[in-house]
Amino acid sequence: MNPPCSSKPPPPGDPSAISGHSAISESLAAPLRPEPIRDEAELDEFLTRPGARLTETIRTVPSPLLVLGAGGKMGPTLAVLARRAAEATGHSLEVIAVSRFTDQRARQWLEDRGVRTIAADLLDRSAVARLPDAANVIYLVGRKFGTQGNPSLSWALNTLVPANIAERYAGARIVALSTGNVYPFVPVASDGAAEATPLTPLGEYANAAVARERVFEHFSHRNGTRIALIRLNYAVELRYGVLVDIARRIRAGEPVDLTNGWFNCIWQGDANELILRALPLASAPAEAWNLTGPAKLEVRGLAQQFSALLDRPARFTGTPSDTALLSNPAKLCGELGEPRTPLDTILRWTAHWVRNGGRLLDKPTHFEVRDGKY
Ligand SMILES: NC(=O)c1ccc[n+]([C@@H]2O[C@H](COP(=O)([O-])OP(=O)(O)OC[C@H]3O[C@@H](n4cnc5c(N)ncnc54)[C@H](OP(=O)(O)O)[C@@H]3O)[C@@H](O)[C@H]2O)c1
Repeated sequence: MNPPCSSKPPPPGDPSAISGHSAISESLAAPLRPEPIRDEAELDEFLTRPGARLTETIRTVPSPLLVLGAGGKMGPTLAVLARRAAEATGHSLEVIAVSRFTDQRARQWLEDRGVRTIAADLLDRSAVARLPDAANVIYLVGRKFGTQGNPSLSWALNTLVPANIAERYAGARIVALSTGNVYPFVPVASDGAAEATPLTPLGEYANAAVARERVFEHFSHRNGTRIALIRLNYAVELRYGVLVDIARRIRAGEPVDLTNGWFNCIWQGDANELILRALPLASAPAEAWNLTGPAKLEVRGLAQQFSALLDRPARFTGTPSDTALLSNPAKLCGELGEPRTPLDTILRWTAHWVRNGGRLLDKPTHFEVRDGKY
């Protein structure tokens, strides 16, 4: 068991900006690749490079492994990570990625890397019925942005699709993504919301995300379906994420909003690896697990670090609140270990990427939002 990965934040404005992360992570892992990451081919290769512990888990997974909602920001690299982990151990695991594939490039990218794809709208029960049987399912379907304009679609996606999938795969192990947004804001001086914290968030998106969990829980109770609910806080890679959002503003000379002054995040490669390694944690009744990096990160201090790395002045707006959306990942860290990629390495990669005009997805996280409206 690893030690619990949580601690108190440093004083506001402390240039280290980090509570509890870098020292722990640096001691766990030297940088896993030479710096910097120069282009998308290198980024994708690194994001889909399996570690030894993932390979151990994947060799126990019978074929096929189903990844649902695979066409978004995390699914493509998660599916290929699973595929490469199977290849590394000589395990003939078919990885099947299911999505509507609104983005056809994601579909082609997956096919080119040996992942079978199926285009399906998972709101459609007959389409769900036609999906292949599987004993292991990774569930990534979700809808956050646009909820304000069309809340009924977000509620439908976050309730009807879980019901369709939980019924169709009642005998499977399901790792279902949730979000740290299911928690209310907690004091920044606290250790962050733990899994037992009451789910009383603000806004329709977050409440629909609570509903997503509750629907999965309901079917787990009813049918004995083994489910792990993964409450993820901010995956980051170089094309999107909170760190890119901050770095891009510094680079552009735009002010960084401090209103939401603290957050947690995790390198997407580590998040995907831990999501796959969570398959053995699936249980009936369903259980929730926080997934994020073990540090509380301060927006102001990170902006100052990017200012130094990018050689641009940092400008700020807003006054930090004494509460924030913070999760405590000690429970999952205790079972699976901590994320491998050190924060200061991610910061250097991000600064290099932004300075050199690396491609961005143009999907801002809106981490500054405090009224729950997305
Ligand atoms: N990325 C993060 O930092 C983060 C943080 C917290 C929680 N999460 C959770 O982690 C999960 C994965 O994250 P993500 O960033 O990859 O999310 P994402 O970019 O929104 O991807 C989810 C994908 O689900 C697919 N989908 C939506 N409705 C569907 C339907 N009716 N049928 C089939 N597929 C459908 C969509 O792809 P198509 O258009 O191809 O169907 C969508 O791109 C989400 O559930 C999210 O709530 C992510």
